[in-house]
Amino acid sequence: MTQPHATRSGETIPATLIPGDGIGPEIVDSVVEILDALGAPFVWDRQLAGMAALQETGDPLPLKTLDSIRRTGLALKGPLTTPVGGGFKSINVTLRQEFELYANLRPARTLIPGGRFDNIDIVLVRENLEGFYAAMEHYMPIGHDPKAVAISSGFNTRTECRRIVRYAFDYALRNGRKKVTIVHKANILKALTGLFLDVGREVAAEYEGRIAMNDRIVDACAMQLVLDPWQYDVIVTTNLFGDILSDLIAGLIGGLGMAPGANIGTDCAIFEAVHGSAPDIAGRGVANPLALLLAAEIMLQHVGRGDLANRLSAAINETVLVAGIRTRDLGGDADTAGLTAAIRQRVA
Ligand code: NAI
Repeated sequence: MTQPHATRSGETIPATLIPGDGIGPEIVDSVVEILDALGAPFVWDRQLAGMAALQETGDPLPLKTLDSIRRTGLALKGPLTTPVGGGFKSINVTLRQEFELYANLRPARTLIPGGRFDNIDIVLVRENLEGFYAAMEHYMPIGHDPKAVAISSGFNTRTECRRIVRYAFDYALRNGRKKVTIVHKANILKALTGLFLDVGREVAAEYEGRIAMNDRIVDACAMQLVLDPWQYDVIVTTNLFGDILSDLIAGLIGGLGMAPGANIGTDCAIFEAVHGSAPDIAGRGVANPLALLLAAEIMLQHVGRGDLANRLSAAINETVLVAGIRTRDLGGDADTAGLTAAIRQRVA
């Protein structure tokens, strides 16, 4: 569970729905169809963001979308395309900053056994607002070359380090986890990630006897995640390292197709898949909706509907594991519509 709200069965909950770009609309429609069959409490307010919004309104993040999220405090979001190199700033990063979504929760659990790694169950908690993702970047010209030197600086604050590490330990406590690993690069980035480690150790002391703590340098962690991933339980780390390691961990469970993410703040939460807008397969009806569906499962837990989340989880297992109905990225031959229908049948 993330930060549970006490929600009574039967109560409806307004939530913002952002279809997004590329495969976004296809997988969002699939997830909404399944949630409707499940009897999920969400009353959707559909809003645009990303390229879709840019094309329709001239703004990649329209005020209407921001107002909607401000009002509902809850959103399910399809992936958004970010232009590489130039163009507008990542809308994902902007949303996280705008709503102070300080914790990025990325749980990864083996759904389909028999892959390269079985029985993976790792939760990565990534700091979402600071580090190098603050993206304070500029070029320095030399002679005729306006981009002769590229400069980037990051920052971590003691307050934010404390808040994210505490979130990871509280998450561990609430979810029956045993250990939190603090991942850093304090041997080289002594200030930037040294502060994260120092604060992490202070916070860990408050949980002594309840949750074990250790720390790892990020490069060693990456190697160990491949050699012996089972030693990890909950990992908490800074923004950039978290982004990279969470994709690595997604690889351990068979790829991005099954990796959900939640962006959690004090007053707002946005749920999404870890993967992007997959332009290479957009519009072909073959996208795997599972990652976004698993994000919707976390969203149900977040609003206090663990009962529905458990039913959804059982239906996904029955479909993917027992009946073996899978999309192509998972080695099956189902298309998006086929997988959606199969799960919908099992939640109804
Ligand atoms: P990507 O995750 O969109 O795609 C990587 C590979 O995985 C592609 O071969 C794609 O076909 C496959 N894939 C991804 N999701 C899939 C799914 N649900 N079912 C089947 N196959 C799937 O990463 P890429 O290509 O680097 O990024 C594309 C765009 O997405 C970029 O503009 C990027 O900035 C954006 N992006 C957005 C994110 C978000 O909105 N949270 C997260 C990551 C990337």
